[in-house]
Amino acid sequence: MENSEEPKIQEQHDPSRRSFLKIGTGVIGGFATLILAVPFLDALVSQSLRIKIGKFVNAGPVSSISGNNPQKVFFDERDRDAYIEEVERRDVWAIKNGEKDITVFSPICPHLGCRYTWHPERDEFICPCHGSVFAKDGKVLHGPAPRPLDTLPTKIENGELYVKWERFKLGVPKKIVV
Ligand code: FES
Repeated sequence: MENSEEPKIQEQHDPSRRSFLKIGTGVIGGFATLILAVPFLDALVSQSLRIKIGKFVNAGPVSSISGNNPQKVFFDERDRDAYIEEVERRDVWAIKNGEKDITVFSPICPHLGCRYTWHPERDEFICPCHGSVFAKDGKVLHGPAPRPLDTLPTKIENGELYVKWERFKLGVPKKIVV
């Protein structure tokens, strides 16, 4: 009699144990997936924010920019991709029109992307690659550049200049952020 009841008890316990194990495995699997997905989602979100929003970076005090000639200004742009921080050194051309009025040009020639320089003896920007010449205000004096120098968004807060680094489509007459 005792022996015939044992399998019945076993049968009653097995299904619930199996469900418990199934649920437990599912929960653990779900947590593991979530933990693995966090860096990926973080990278995805920060990447899309970086592309869509960009950010203003402190490029130093306005007082350090002289009012006479265009001046190269350097700043570091920090970017966090998941758990890795990248630092990019940026350089831009800044022209002080007044204490609260600074024009900042991207250092990249709008023709095909070379870096142009300021020539004080001529009062012009000149690109060494194909000879484009630009006035101090960025206007094209001599091609083949198809548009003026690209200005970058700026703001001044507490005497500090902030610049938003952007890139633009090359070789086209319209300024298009890429
Ligand atoms: S890249 Fe500057 S003129 Fe061509």
